[in-house]
Amino acid sequence: MVEHKKHARLPGKLVFIGFGSVGQGALPLLLRHLDVRREAVSIINGDERGAAEAAAYGIAYRVEPLTPRNFRGILDPVLRPGDFLLNVSVDVSSTDLIEYCLQRGIFYLDTCIEPWLGGYTDASVPAARRTNYALREKARALDAQYPGAATAMVTHGANPGLVSHFVKQALVNLARDSGDGEVIPASREQWALLAERVGMKVVHVAERDTQFAIPQKRPQEFVNTWSVEGFVGEGAQPSELGWGTHERHFPADGMSYDFGPGCSIFLNRPGVSVRVRSWTPLNGPYHGLLITHGESVSIADYFTVRADERVRFRPTVHYAYHPCDGAVLSVHELCGRNYRMQPEHRVLMDDIQGGIDELGVLLMGHKRGAYWYGSQLGIEAARTLAPYNNATTLQVAAGVLGAIVWACENPRAGVVDPDDMDFRRVLEVARPYLGNMVGVYSDWTPLQERGVLFPEDTDPADPWQFKNFRVM
Ligand SMILES: NC(=O)c1ccc[n+]([C@@H]2O[C@H](COP(=O)([O-])OP(=O)(O)OC[C@H]3O[C@@H](n4cnc5c(N)ncnc54)[C@H](O)[C@@H]3O)[C@@H](O)[C@H]2O)c1
Repeated sequence: MVEHKKHARLPGKLVFIGFGSVGQGALPLLLRHLDVRREAVSIINGDERGAAEAAAYGIAYRVEPLTPRNFRGILDPVLRPGDFLLNVSVDVSSTDLIEYCLQRGIFYLDTCIEPWLGGYTDASVPAARRTNYALREKARALDAQYPGAATAMVTHGANPGLVSHFVKQALVNLARDSGDGEVIPASREQWALLAERVGMKVVHVAERDTQFAIPQKRPQEFVNTWSVEGFVGEGAQPSELGWGTHERHFPADGMSYDFGPGCSIFLNRPGVSVRVRSWTPLNGPYHGLLITHGESVSIADYFTVRADERVRFRPTVHYAYHPCDGAVLSVHELCGRNYRMQPEHRVLMDDIQGGIDELGVLLMGHKRGAYWYGSQLGIEAARTLAPYNNATTLQVAAGVLGAIVWACENPRAGVVDPDDMDFRRVLEVARPYLGNMVGVYSDWTPLQERGVLFPEDTDPADPWQFKNFRVM
């Protein structure tokens, strides 16, 4: 039997809320690498998904969906100070659970930041208050309200999550390759100055998932390599992106905020309807969906340079997601149905026949053109590395493991973004589950070959203007 290294000791219980594709993928890694007794682990789920896996590992499991009214009553008998709440559900308010944990000395990890069921599309709430930016502001306000509380990590899976650490590693590599030697900044301000010096004007979270399954997507069926509900939920949110100081062309339906740091903007349309061009090393150029994600906001905020109360430098940051081909067809069908969900849903797992998830960050605007840094993980490798996973969920599970280890080592950090954590430690823990980690330079730009379809309108003096943006 292979001996797995234990990275950290969990002081108390580990309670999962939700046990879908991410929870099921994370459990084997957490049992391998955390010093925790199986009797101390339990799962509270919204439906019967994953019951067989929980039984196979001997983990206590019950179905009891959380609601705004019942969640305290469900959690009170289970959680004590020093325990760990891992929220990998959909449709459960992250900020309500965070406040619950901050008040009681309970550690918290969430792989996204979500409202209660229906919150994303609640028309009684202004669109600006339904964005990831607004949800993050709520979490930051809680941090200010409960200073020095137990560590609560929001938005830490693969993306959001690991990609924040990829950006830092990519910056270090870029500085090294430009002859600066090995520079590791010691503070947020120093990281932002490094980004400015290197010229990191644009960051795409460039993901191309080529996993495919048999049977392929059927009519009126939504398929994906992770949560269908989660994907449709975030895809229905207003499209959102960190807004760089070099941008000269404000999108026609772009909106900025009158609260918070103002590091991002949103578009008055759902992310699944907005396409951007991007690039990954194996796939080359592609059309991705500009779906809102926490990292678009937190990375832009983290790498902001201020001088005399003025913002001097900030990168543009956004997701450019090409999900698996079955999911692209599913999105196309969903939009055609006026966003009424298909009756059938399937998360692709054992039925996957091949493919790879290429997930990385594409840094552009600097002197060396474009630099992609990230994980290339194929389905075969993922199956060899851990059970109950596909390539996508294993990348997420690796991020969950890395973050929990970091929290055990930094127990009183309060509410943190991935960007606030030690990128080397998290990547060290996650690395064995990420397949090939590669850094690749390219001369690709979003403007290449545009003359084929669009009139040549590039201003050579300002090639990083936001003209690569196209609305479907
Ligand atoms: N950061 C990342 O890299 C990343 C990647 C994938 C997914 N995610 C996020 O992780 C979360 C889980 O994703 P998934 O793919 O496992 O989803 P899934 O759809 O496979 O599973 C969701 C789980 O939530 C449970 N659930 C639903 N309503 C609930 C309720 N009211 N109370 C308790 N449990 C409830 C369901 O029973 C199910 O087990 C989502 O929020 C998703 O956005 C993050």
